[in-house]
Amino acid sequence: MDALKVLIARRAPAEVVHKLSAHFVVDYHDGAEPLSPDDLRARLQGKVGVYVTGTERITAELLATCPELKVVCTMSVGYNHIDLDACTARGVLVTNTPDVLTESTADFGFALLMATARRMSEGERLLRDGGWKSWAWDFLAGAEVHGSTLGILGMGRIGQAIARRGRFGFGMKVIYHNRSRLAAEAEAELGARYVAKDELLRQADHLVLVLPYSAQSHHCIAAPELALMKPTATLVNVARGGIVDEEALAAALREHRIAAAGLDVFEGEPRVNPVLLTLPNVVLTPHIASATLPTRQAMAHLAADNLLAALTGGMPPTPLNPQVLSA
Ligand code: DGY
Repeated sequence: MDALKVLIARRAPAEVVHKLSAHFVVDYHDGAEPLSPDDLRARLQGKVGVYVTGTERITAELLATCPELKVVCTMSVGYNHIDLDACTARGVLVTNTPDVLTESTADFGFALLMATARRMSEGERLLRDGGWKSWAWDFLAGAEVHGSTLGILGMGRIGQAIARRGRFGFGMKVIYHNRSRLAAEAEAELGARYVAKDELLRQADHLVLVLPYSAQSHHCIAAPELALMKPTATLVNVARGGIVDEEALAAALREHRIAAAGLDVFEGEPRVNPVLLTLPNVVLTPHIASATLPTRQAMAHLAADNLLAALTGGMPPTPLNPQVLSA
């Protein structure tokens, strides 16, 4: 039997490429930039499996042109770049990489919260630009982190890991809102209190967004939500850019209706809203919340292990639509 053909659509660790090459005929796109949609479609012809990252969009239209494709493995926990329903309808298995990035992403979320509250980027820019002339009692004075109220919107694995850091590392009061409320034992373990979304917005000193992006969560933080927040509050987004209406956020930051924001994700990334780039009270980072080498390697291996298992008759470790396997 001819070896199965797969596409690795983004640069991956060498061991991962070797691992897959030992089992499949691998077409490897090792360029620094993502394939264009046309090139992705062309390279997918005749492939039964594909390893992607968050930069490749797997749409219903694309699937219709790739009838041999059976497995899509993304090296990301988020999968809003994949039309999961269309994949399921066509019997295409989809996998993602949960768990292995939880702690490093939570570390980064908390670091971004601290950098935002304590005005670290602003201070560094000022220092590098020669603007540090003397000491003053209110020089770059920011918001308190320890003992303040941490609000978390989206209490999945990463939200819970951020809650632990806030509660047990910084003595914060933790409130959260989520589609479904956690079990009482989980709330007790985290020291977290469930509140309605409006109450979360009103009470949080630092609001962290960690919910998945979907049609339902699109712009779920927009002008009306920002209007409920304290003028001293900070907003941190390590989820997906589309959750926040960036125009409304930029206006709120410019008019000091909230104090500051820390953003790792953007609606049109890598393009960043030009107004945000001009504001001093925003910390901007280029979608790197999970970017430690060990974590990225673990994510790449998990994506490859999913592909390997799915195409060799095994059980993929982290399927998103396992019903496809039993169909
Ligand atoms: C994820 O895993 O979803 C991160 O955002 C990286 O894309």
